[in-house]
Amino acid sequence: MCLVAVVPTGAPSVRNKRAFLVQLVKMIQKLEVINFRNFAHKLIKFPASTTVVAGPNASGKTNLLESIHLLSTGKSFRAEREFEMINYDQEIARIKARVGEEEESEVLEVVLTTGQLTAGAKLKVAPRKKLLVDGVGKRLMDFAGRFPSVLFSPQDMDLVTSSPSVRRQFFNAVLTQTDREYRRSFLAYEKGIKRRNRLLFAIREGAANRNQLTYWDMLLIKNGDTVTRLRQELVEYINRQSGLSNREFELQYSKNLVTEERLNKYAEAEVAAAQTLVGPHRDDFVFMVKNGSSSKFRELARFGSRGEARLAVLWLKLSEFAFIADKTHKEPTLLLDDILSELDEVRREAVLEVVAKHQTIITTAEDISDLNLSNVEKISLGG
Ligand SMILES: Nc1ncnc2c1ncn2[C@@H]1O[C@H](COP(=O)(O)OP(=O)(O)O)[C@@H](O)[C@H]1O
Ligand SMILES: [Mg+2]
Repeated sequence: MCLVAVVPTGAPSVRNKRAFLVQLVKMIQKLEVINFRNFAHKLIKFPASTTVVAGPNASGKTNLLESIHLLSTGKSFRAEREFEMINYDQEIARIKARVGEEEESEVLEVVLTTGQLTAGAKLKVAPRKKLLVDGVGKRLMDFAGRFPSVLFSPQDMDLVTSSPSVRRQFFNAVLTQTDREYRRSFLAYEKGIKRRNRLLFAIREGAANRNQLTYWDMLLIKNGDTVTRLRQELVEYINRQSGLSNREFELQYSKNLVTEERLNKYAEAEVAAAQTLVGPHRDDFVFMVKNGSSSKFRELARFGSRGEARLAVLWLKLSEFAFIADKTHKEPTLLLDDILSELDEVRREAVLEVVAKHQTIITTAEDISDLNLSNVEKISLGG
């Protein structure tokens, strides 16, 4: 039997054919946003394959992806404060989507308010954020992670060189979506830091006693330990993924541990600063690179080229995709924000390979019809 397929000229490319064979899963079925950012009302149905959202600058492309990602993590990847996502002239925004495979699908909804709603001539206090699954209110811990998505945006290109907080945010976004234990510990830790800092301030002002710290110290040690451990596991996972070229990358975890010993060591300084100075809220992650001719890893931000930094980011994002898929046993929806024009041919190939196998939403301000994407549905946003 002849195993070599004869490909007639003009036939679909190999990638098209493969996409045809892959069973794509429709993770997000339809999305409805009301008073979200620049959208008064928008309803979009998504295919299981690729959706291209085209529109000029400021037409709301990134906003749209933000609303989808919000349903994955329960948090915005760009808003400093959540009410900023509500349309300027409104008090309530709603983001709602049916997600998951047919039989197991559910409706996720985020309701944001300014905190005060006009009721007749009066103002009524309202919760600033509500998270709902099939209409039932949930805590963030039980809401996040139901619909995994991986967002890749131009800002990610600076992950290597930007400040540590940006890298920590990356780790939080990935682990929040995939690990309930992380969600629980991280949320407790974050709250703990806020409360402990307030207490440190009160101690400095002479309004509180040092022994009141013990409770918060224990809480931070317990939850901080879990946060560190799960971040470490993700670092190790990423380091097991191979790079895309002859360069090798490595991520080093620069841990800021929170222990009784270290808290004691910084006790005076913490009161003086009214800040908790040790713990994973001060973690960093350092990218290292080794090229073919070198035997040693070097710090990418200091020695690498811009091209290498971008390759490392791509390595990181593809690792993120693999990690989320592995951990959740679901197929993350890929959200590509205006990124394809930023990638050269080789890197594009690597991204498009993932695109072909998963539900993907791509935004673009440019014409990308030459990209040879199969089964594309196009949505146009006005100017
Ligand atoms: N809360 C809001 N209400 C109304 N418009 C908003 C709000 N937040 C941002 N915008 C508008 O959204 C537009 C930017 O949308 P964006 O999704 O970033 O565009 P792009 O298509 O370039 O990705 C800007 O014009 C901005 O003024
Ligand atoms: Mg944009």
